[in-house]
Amino acid sequence: MTAARHPIRVIAHRGASEDAPEHSLAAYRKAITDGADGLECDVRLTADGHLVCVHDRRVNRTSNGRGAVSALELAQLAELDFGSWKAQAGVAESPDSADRERTTVLTLERLLRLVADADRPVDLAIETKHPTRWAGQVEERLLRLLERHPLPGRVQVMSFSARSLRRVHLGAPGLPTVYLMQLLLPRHRAGRLPPGNRIAGPSIRILRRDPGYVARAHRSGHQVQVWTVDEPVDVELCARLGVDAVITNRPRTVRHQLDRL
Ligand code: G3P
Ligand code: CA
Repeated sequence: MTAARHPIRVIAHRGASEDAPEHSLAAYRKAITDGADGLECDVRLTADGHLVCVHDRRVNRTSNGRGAVSALELAQLAELDFGSWKAQAGVAESPDSADRERTTVLTLERLLRLVADADRPVDLAIETKHPTRWAGQVEERLLRLLERHPLPGRVQVMSFSARSLRRVHLGAPGLPTVYLMQLLLPRHRAGRLPPGNRIAGPSIRILRRDPGYVARAHRSGHQVQVWTVDEPVDVELCARLGVDAVITNRPRTVRHQLDRL
């Protein structure tokens, strides 16, 4: 007998990033195969104005190159190896294409096409990183890309920056946004969010310390989407509190745990 699907949505953090290099096409394909309901990615702007999926300000940790993403052009990033730092995982087509899918920098445009072509509907949660530096260019470019590659009802924009989310609301009032929180500021403790945001994005640490937060956010009419939920005890906590979605590096394991509850 197959277990019923638990209603909590599972979003793959940088793809199935425990198994494949984070933000690689291989990691996102694996997340879809693993049953993720959604995919998470961080976006940064290159020196020549392309949005690429890279978490850190610099490429040093996740590639064989050095320097800030914002100082490099897409063609320079495309020469770097973004995959070999991570041990090989079982992702394959032909060895060559599998290798490229693990090692090539991923543009947001390519990821949007992957989601559009997926064999089942998956959502995409796009996080704008340090957008204040670019005075609106990240959001402008993002909204333009979403116009060219529409995924109606399947995209949300996330940020720790209320200013970035405000820009998204101005440009695309219907697009759901997630206000990410590392700590619960006094003004957000009651479950309220900066205007316009429909979804609260607390760190799992917030819920460990203050489990009542979920009920307060729900009473304020917000959904709760928690990050980064990898440990079974945290998955259990989220299920008990009735969160709406969890973001995890282990979509397969977390999906299975939830579906067996
Ligand atoms: O999903 C939100 C989470 O990804 C925020 O933290 O540092 O992993 O981008 P970070
Ligand atoms: Ca992120």
